[in-house]
Amino acid sequence: MNQILNDIRYYVKQKLENEGSGHDWHHIERVVQHSEVIAKAEGANHFVCIAAALVHDLADDKIASSEAEGIKEVVNLLGDVNEEDRNHIIEIISSISFKGGNRPPVTTLEAQVVQDADRLDAIGAIGIARTFVYAGSKGDLIYDPSIEPRNKMTPETYRNGQSTAINHFYEKLLNLKELMNTQKGIELAKQRHEFMEEFLSQFHDEWAGIK
Ligand code: ADP
Ligand code: NI
Repeated sequence: MNQILNDIRYYVKQKLENEGSGHDWHHIERVVQHSEVIAKAEGANHFVCIAAALVHDLADDKIASSEAEGIKEVVNLLGDVNEEDRNHIIEIISSISFKGGNRPPVTTLEAQVVQDADRLDAIGAIGIARTFVYAGSKGDLIYDPSIEPRNKMTPETYRNGQSTAINHFYEKLLNLKELMNTQKGIELAKQRHEFMEEFLSQFHDEWAGIK
C-alpha cells in the first residue's frame, strides 16, 4: 500500500511542482495533510483518502487539457490499485470540485473527507493568499465596488466571468463553512472562517479610509 502511495506522490509532485494557478504541489501536500487528520477522526479509509487527495487536481480544467483526459491519466496512474478502490478514487475526484456551487453533495465518507480537506485549503490565511494569486493570474482586480458579487454561477461564468479577488470571498469562500461535510472539517473551518471575516472587515475599513 505505502509503495503505491509513494509512487503516486512522486508522479504528482513532478507534475505540479511549478504550477502557478494555486494548485501547486504544496496545495496537494496540504490537502493530503488535512485528509490524514480528518480521515483519522472520521474513521474513513486511509488509502482511498490519501490517494484521492494526491490526484484530486489532475483532472481539473486548469491542469488537464480536458476533464476526460485528466481522468484517463489518473486511471493509468492508479494501475496498481485494486479496481474497487480505483473506481472509488475516480468517483471522488470527479465529484468534489466547486465549479460555481452547482454540484450535488458527495456521497461517500471518503469523498466527504477529501472535499473538506480541499475546502479547508481555500479558506483562512492560505485561502486568502491563493485567492489573490489566482485573481492576479487571471488579470482580475483586487476589488472594484462597481462589480457586484454574483450569487448564481454556471461552471462557465464561475471560471470566465468578470469578478474581483474580494468578490470571490462572497461568491464562494464565505459559503464553504456551511458546506463542510464532516464534524472534524466543521471544527477546523471555524477559525479559518473567522480569520477571513476579520480580514474583510479590515480591508473594507482601509478602503473607506476609516483605518
Ligand atoms: P475548485 O476546483 O474547488 O472549484 P478552484 O480550482 O476554483 O477550486 O480554485 C482554486 C483556488 O483559487 C481556490 O483557493 C479558489 O478559492 C481560488 N479561486 C477560484 N476561482 C477564483 C476567482 N475567480 N478569483 C479568485 N480566486 C479564485
Ligand atoms: Ni485542490
